[in-house]
Amino acid sequence: MSKFEKLQEVETSISKKAYAPYSNIYVGSALLGENGEIFSVCNIENALYSLTCSAERVAIFNAVSNGTTNFKMFVITSNTEKPISPCGACRQVMSEFFDNNVKIILTNQQGSKKEVNIKDLLPYSFNL
Ligand code: THU
Repeated sequence: MSKFEKLQEVETSISKKAYAPYSNIYVGSALLGENGEIFSVCNIENALYSLTCSAERVAIFNAVSNGTTNFKMFVITSNTEKPISPCGACRQVMSEFFDNNVKIILTNQQGSKKEVNIKDLLPYSFNL
């Protein structure tokens, strides 16, 4: 099984755990660390909508909290018609930790797939 297939298997199962009673958009993401660790999480909504956290940020915060800051691959999936496209806030958080070698694979549950890197998602990003 390729790394992509493994990550896809993990995040497809985690997307079922998404807490998304308001939008019904179920997102799962699986982030592969440089030493093979996998962080797989879902989006978590809140009745105060603006407190919702997208699956991408949950994954990165989870990984960093567990001591991993270097990554190889990030697979994101959802029950949307097209492959999920990360929001601007998540792109900015990705740009803090990802270089252009991190494969970002956007998918959906129907099997559509698009591979990008952080430069594609957020050119000319804010960095200090
Ligand atoms: N969402 C994600 O988790 N990731 C994305 O890339 C886009 C949107 C979530 C946030 C919210 O729970 C729902 O999808 C609708 O915006």
